[in-house]
This record gives sequence, C-alpha cells and structure tokens, in this order.
Amino acid sequence: MTSLPTSVSSTAALLARGGYIAGEALATSVFLALKLQRPILLEGEAGVGKTELAKVLAATLQRPLVRLQCYEGLDLAAAAYEWNYSRQLLHIRASEATGEKQSTAALERDIYSADYLLKRPLLQALELSVEGTAPVLLIDELDRADEPFEAFLLEILADYQLTIPELGVISATTPPITILTSNRTREVHDAVRRRCFYHWIDFPAAQREREILMLKVPEAPSELTRQVVAFVQSLRKMDLYKTPGIAESINWAQALAALDCVSLDAGKVDSTLGTLLKYQDDIARIQGSEAARLIEEVKTKAREGTY
Ligand SMILES: Nc1ncnc2c1ncn2[C@@H]1O[C@H](COP(=O)(O)OP(=O)(O)O)[C@@H](O)[C@H]1O
Ligand SMILES: [Mg+2]
Repeated sequence: MTSLPTSVSSTAALLARGGYIAGEALATSVFLALKLQRPILLEGEAGVGKTELAKVLAATLQRPLVRLQCYEGLDLAAAAYEWNYSRQLLHIRASEATGEKQSTAALERDIYSADYLLKRPLLQALELSVEGTAPVLLIDELDRADEPFEAFLLEILADYQLTIPELGVISATTPPITILTSNRTREVHDAVRRRCFYHWIDFPAAQREREILMLKVPEAPSELTRQVVAFVQSLRKMDLYKTPGIAESINWAQALAALDCVSLDAGKVDSTLGTLLKYQDDIARIQGSEAARLIEEVKTKAREGTY
C-alpha cells in the first residue's frame, strides 16, 4: 500500500510513475482532493486523460478501482444496489414449506437483510472504504446518465454514505478517492459541482504532448514525434467535427512507427489518417492538399526551430 502524496510535486511524481504526465495545475487539484478528501470532477474533451487519471491513481496508490460507467437509463438498481427478489421469494417459499410459524415482521427482517442485497459499484465502493485501503471510485462520463440520476449521487458525494430505506444507512469508514468525469455533452448539475472540486483538463501544450508520446511510443524516432505533435496541434486549431485527443495522437505515432516512418510525408499521412480522425468528413477535408500544407508548415517550423 502506497501512502498518499504529501505535496503537489510528489503527486506529479506519483502520477508520472504510472505513466501519466500531469501539469502543475492538475497535480495541485489532485493533491488537494486527496488531502482534503473531496470528490473531484474532471471535465474536458474526449481523450484528454480523464479516465486514465483515475486508473493511474488506483494503480500507483495500489488501491482497488471501482468503476461506474454511466449511460442513458442508468438507475439506482444498476449503480448502487438491488434486492435479490428471486432469493427473497425462495426464502419465503421455504419458510412456508417447512411450516414454521414466523411472524410477518420477522420474515421481513430476514429478507431485507444484507444477505439479500445485490451490491453494485457505489455500494461496493462504500463497503471497501476502510482506513488506508479506500478504493478509487470512478464515476465515469456522468454527462451520459440522465439528469435525475445525479440526485442519487448527492448523499454519497457529500457524506460518503447511502441510505437504503429497508436496511438503514451504509457509511464508508473512510472516504473513497472519488473521481467523476464528464465529456460535457450536457452540463452537470450545480448540486453535484458544489460537492466536488473541479478541474478542466485541456488538450496538452506541445511540450507536454511530446513528453507523453515519448513515454507511450518510445519506438517512434524523436523527430517523427515532434512532427506528429506539431501536426496534431495545428489540426486542433481547425474546426473539425471531432478534434483528436491524446489517445489519437498516440495511435497515430504508433501507426507511423509501425510503418517505419521517420518523418511525415504526404503518402504516409493520407494512408494513416484513420488512426487520427474518426469521421469521414474530417478525413476528406484533411486528406490531400490540406495535409500537404500542414506537413510543409510543420517542416518550416522545424527549420526555424519554433516548435
Ligand atoms: N497526461 C497524460 N499522460 C499520459 N498519457 C495520457 C495522458 N492523458 C491521456 N493519456 C493517454 O490518452 C489515452 C486516452 O485518455 P482517456 O483517459 O481515455 O481520455 P478521456 O477519459 O478524457 O476521454 C489514455 O489511454 C492515455 O494513454
Ligand atoms: Mg474517459
């Protein structure tokens, strides 16, 4: 068990050990969330490293990762708990069959006990949260869930507890490390925001993206990595239907390296664009003359030493 970092720089170092390059601002937000035991809401475009941060924290702190992937229609039964109706029914039948006289109240006490509860991620996380080994609870892509679902989270985010009407209050003995993410396809409600620290993860600056690529795609020659980053950074300034994230630049560098490419050329760029752009409209717009122009721009910048 790794203990929690004690400063911003040791937080950044911890994440780096897990292969995650965080800037000062993000390392500060994470440090404070850990230190003050508050949930953190990470927002940003797809592919900027929100989910990865939670995974790396769990791995480097050697904590279990409990993940709740949100989707339209997600409800309490799938997110927190559900009564095991078939087992409850079996119990009732069995007690009828044996003919033993049990009061209704006693029977209810039996079937509404923890034994008959199906535990889903939120409840699992609370139960795992004991001193020193609290898990990382990742509530991923909250913007995909329907708005009313957010109300279920308020009790957990504020008090790290969950009230089950038939059973009582289930509390974490120590707070789980709670990370919420949103791709901002809709706004997360104020009530959730108030209970969390907030951090917007932007696309990385060129310097940081180069560090990430050097770490994740060590097989790519360093000149190629520089060119890939400069090219992707220019693409992000264009008004594309889907701007490539870090995941896409990693894939592209891996693809080019796999093709033994040492420097960008029009042919290789055109034939590998599908690893970087995922919509035909975007590919059609960049392929050909636009790609050639961007390659020229990247190489001019290289000659002038401005990237
Ligand atoms: N700061 C970073 N350091 C290292 N790798 C990163 C970083 N940010 C993103 N990545 C890489 O990009 C990929 C996509 O990130 P992910 O967390 O899935 O994005 P999001 O959840 O924001 O959509 C990750 O698998 C990881 O390899
Ligand atoms: Mg994600």
